[in-house]
Amino acid sequence: MSSIINVLDETVINRIAAGEVVERPASVVKELLENAIDAKASHISIEIENGGKKLIRIRDDGIGMSNDDAFLALERHATSKLRTEKDLIGVPTLGFRGEALASIASVSRLRLVTKDDSESEGMEILVEGGTLKRADKLGVGRGSILEVRNLFFNAPVRAKYLKGKALESGYVHDLILRIALANTSIGFKYSEDGRVKIESGPVKSVLDRINSIFSRDVRENLISVDGSEGDMRVHGYVAKPPYARSTMRSILTFVNKRPVKDKLVNSALNRAFTGLMERGRYPLAVLFIDVAPEDVDVNVHPQKNEVRFLNPSKVADLINHSVTQALYDSPRNSPRSIQRFPEMFAGLAKTNTQEISSFPMEQAPNFLAPDFSSQLNKTVSSSTERDIVRPGTKAYSDLSVLGKIPGSFIVLHDDDEILFLDHHAAHERLVFDSLLRAQAGLEVVESQNLLIPKVITLTPVEAELLRANQEILSSSGIVYEEFGENDFVVKACPVWIRDSDAEDLIRDLVGTMLETGLKPKPEEMMTELFKTVACKASVKESTQMRNDEIIALLKALDENNSPRVCPHGRPLSFSLTFAEIKRRLGRNIL
Ligand SMILES: Nc1ncnc2c1ncn2[C@@H]1O[C@H](COP(=O)(O)OP(=O)(O)OP(=O)(O)O)[C@@H](O)[C@H]1O
Ligand SMILES: [Mg+2]
Repeated sequence: MSSIINVLDETVINRIAAGEVVERPASVVKELLENAIDAKASHISIEIENGGKKLIRIRDDGIGMSNDDAFLALERHATSKLRTEKDLIGVPTLGFRGEALASIASVSRLRLVTKDDSESEGMEILVEGGTLKRADKLGVGRGSILEVRNLFFNAPVRAKYLKGKALESGYVHDLILRIALANTSIGFKYSEDGRVKIESGPVKSVLDRINSIFSRDVRENLISVDGSEGDMRVHGYVAKPPYARSTMRSILTFVNKRPVKDKLVNSALNRAFTGLMERGRYPLAVLFIDVAPEDVDVNVHPQKNEVRFLNPSKVADLINHSVTQALYDSPRNSPRSIQRFPEMFAGLAKTNTQEISSFPMEQAPNFLAPDFSSQLNKTVSSSTERDIVRPGTKAYSDLSVLGKIPGSFIVLHDDDEILFLDHHAAHERLVFDSLLRAQAGLEVVESQNLLIPKVITLTPVEAELLRANQEILSSSGIVYEEFGENDFVVKACPVWIRDSDAEDLIRDLVGTMLETGLKPKPEEMMTELFKTVACKASVKESTQMRNDEIIALLKALDENNSPRVCPHGRPLSFSLTFAEIKRRLGRNIL
């Protein structure tokens, strides 16, 4: 009888494992950095050449390895971090599989130099494509150097999948940022082709690290997040919504200090920003999620990027609530000040360990008016031009009304600036906030019966959606009933909707439901519906507004402490200083 099944030899097994662990230079850097951190390094330097494809060199001043262990480290399933299956629960180190070095060595030319305190001399080992080429003693200090050259030199198909130098360097840079944020007590130096990109010594806090690696405009517009529930804690910083980015790369999240890119974490975070950011934009966030080690499984992904929580919905709720609370916090909030938002987000604040000061119920979110330059003029580049759009921290009602620009804006001014307010967006904001408060039971939406109830015929799918969302809408003052197959009769609408707009409103709502109908969470649907109602309810023409109505609008915006963005994330206003206007007109300012 002939056998067709072979037991694979070690080199082949390593190559297969490398397929999972080593995807690109950044994944090599991640493994090597994690090893250096596990080895208790206090300074780590990382150098790459040609996006890491030519060379990755990492030096650390950690505990190093004995001469014998240096050989073992390169063998598969050789680890100093795990002994029994039991140790897999709540692994305290970043590595635990004992396969990273063996995998990397199988697809590159690897040089390891290491020495620990037990040895008088260190060991230098060269491995090519998994085969030992040379090993010698070498006089070095304590610590390790790992050099990885010509990644995938023996795996041409994989090499082909690597991107260009800029992109591969970008991945490495992003990764080092994450690791540096999660490990404040370690100093990092990172260079690409000899140019230093990140240099930050050991620091005391995440904020210190942020200060040493992020640009000033980001640093100055951070909001601190801190919430806990039982032994779960979510803490860190998010940038104000106008600092949203166009890619998810700005979301830096950590679970028990491990950088992760987790769908659950991201969507809980994004949900907190709904209504404050345009679609397709992503928050800038540095967020740490700490849970009891036994409540999270980190062993789900070969690159350890994803985790599995024992209690996913609890974690998601805590993230969402903590960030929402921070965003809806004190008026012109500075990174450190935390105040409690009232019952609207009740429950979420109950275990907050921060000192809590009271907050009047009517106060709704507020942010510093953002640097709108990016929305205003994508081509603005010089810093002086950027400065023209200053954060407007003044109350709207402190400004005088200069007039209305037909069909568009209200123009306000004081002694030093002129401000343009989008009254439609402003009104939308107010209605949206009021609907949110109503939903939370803090306010009752004033609703009025239509003089003549309106009958609307829908398609079966539309009818089904309208039925499904009846409860959300009725607590928002929109009352309708079924009236025969696929027909509905609209009986009441919020006072700010004109009777003649009732049918349009329902049709718009159904449109939104069709668009977002697959949202699994009712609150996501609710937010979308509220945006639609707010948009429909808003005044269309500034020219139709009387002066007293404009003044009432300004007052309401100030009193509600409304965020200075509409529910779709667009700014409500921007201002130009007179100094800037003079400068642009070539007048000297003394
Ligand atoms: N920079 C370093 N300093 C000291 N020891 C190291 C270093 N890098 C690796 N080691 C040792 O080599 C062993 C193997 O490393 P390797 O990365 O292959 O596996 P691991 O870290 O144990 O698990 P994982 O595969 O999950 O990363 C480690 O357990 C550790 O003992
Ligand atoms: Mg490791």
